[in-house]
Amino acid sequence: MKQLLYIFTIVTITNTAYGDDGQGWPSVCPHIISRTRWGARPAHAVDYAIIPIQNVVIHHTVTRDCNTEEECAELLKEIQNFHLDILEFHDIGYNFLIGGDGNVYEGAGWHKVGAHTRGYNSRSIGISFTGNFSDKLPNRKMLKALKKFLACAVELGELDGKYKLFGARQVSATASPGTRFYNELKNNWPHFTLDP
Ligand SMILES: *[C@@H]1O[C@H](CO)[C@@H](O)[C@H](O)[C@H]1NC(C)=O
Repeated sequence: MKQLLYIFTIVTITNTAYGDDGQGWPSVCPHIISRTRWGARPAHAVDYAIIPIQNVVIHHTVTRDCNTEEECAELLKEIQNFHLDILEFHDIGYNFLIGGDGNVYEGAGWHKVGAHTRGYNSRSIGISFTGNFSDKLPNRKMLKALKKFLACAVELGELDGKYKLFGARQVSATASPGTRFYNELKNNWPHFTLDP
């Protein structure tokens, strides 16, 4: 246990050293909009996950779209309020979100236990795309952001290089991340697995 705490501490310090502005981050990393920047409320509780994490679960928010940082920040605040106040989660449920503006937004964040996929929260990174992707694909900027984010997560040692990627619908009673987007992941994304 002592050793685990030690690892968590190092990771935390390392991430802190990168700062909010992304300076000093590995070049594969996308710019990530911090909680402070989008105006998140503090988490009610924080649980740490053991890294490197083995799984990535993709979701959609099933909300309106957002297309600018301002719109996405507003939407994320509503989602966080819903998760904290109505669902009584400990924080916004997803570890990260990808906005229609092509930005990656920090949710619960790195090596934290989210609240997005029962049974998988402590061993996956949950990433949610803003919008409803039943009948349409996320735009190119969003897909590019996911690709960069995954490469970055591996580079940082947060995500195992042999990670499995799958849709929330494969492991829980939901249509998420939407049929059209799910088919895209299934047909075209490396690391996708039919066997989560
Ligand atoms: C998501 O989009 C599909 C297809 O347009 C629609 O049938 C469904 O009602 C939408 N879901 C929500 C919760 O709005």
